[in-house]
Parts: sequence; structure tokens; C-alpha cells
Amino acid sequence: MNQLTAFRKELESLLNEHNAILDKIEEIINWWAQLEEKGLPKYGEMGMHIHELRDMLATHYEEEEEKGYFVQIKENYPEIDFKDQDFVKEHSHLLMQLNIFAEKLSLPEPAFKNWNEAMEEFEAFLKQFNNHERAETRIINKVLQA
Ligand SMILES: [Fe+2]
Ligand SMILES: [Fe+2]
Repeated sequence: MNQLTAFRKELESLLNEHNAILDKIEEIINWWAQLEEKGLPKYGEMGMHIHELRDMLATHYEEEEEKGYFVQIKENYPEIDFKDQDFVKEHSHLLMQLNIFAEKLSLPEPAFKNWNEAMEEFEAFLKQFNNHERAETRIINKVLQA
């Protein structure tokens, strides 16, 4: 296998990881929607789900940074526009937000007025998370189609 083929294989597995993370998020959203129907807030349990998601993301981001996928792409595919996004900076920002959210959910006294307020915080996180992963996926696809 030549170097380029190996790199493409790695990028493909990175895309699979993106999908696994999206599945995990969908699982959380479905679980949340079911609870909402019953009208039961379960902050502690949500905190556990968010902890799991955080660990998954931390591993994913560590891998992206250690293997330097995007640094390599930047060097070898100068025609791809990164639109000034700093992925490493975004990683630490996203993880920090999840840490704070998980902590708030795990407090003995709920830190939220109600379930809705907690959901809004999660949705705000998801917006930024989607923006990050979508930008990466767009770049990976450009390389794979090149
Ligand atoms: Fe990333
Ligand atoms: Fe990623």
C-alpha cells in the first residue's frame, strides 16, 4: 500500500468515527425526547451520558491532533480552504463546554431552572460541535475525492 492510499484509509476510518459520534449524540437526543414525553428530568443520568460523549470526543480529538491529519492536509492540499478554522482550538473549547455541562448536571441540586434550560445548553453545544465536525468532514471528503 503506498503512502497516499494509507492516508486515504486513515481518513476513511476518521469519517467512520465521526459517524459513531453522531450515533451517540442521536442516542442521547432520543433518550431525552422519551423522558420529555413523560415529563421527568433526570439530570444525573444526562450527566452520565454527557460524560460518555466527552470521553468519546476527547479520544477522537486526541487522535486527530496526534496523527496530525489536518496539518498534513493543509501542507499537501493547499487548494483546500480551511476558512480560518482552527480545529485544535475548537477541540479544547468544545471539550471545556462539555466538562462544564456535565459538572452542572451532576450537582446534587440541579443547576438548571428546568429540563428545557438544560436542553438549550446542549443544543448550543451541538451547534458548535456540528459546525466543527461538518467542516472537517467537508475537508476530508475533498481529499478523498481528489
Ligand atoms: Fe476535530
Ligand atoms: Fe473530528
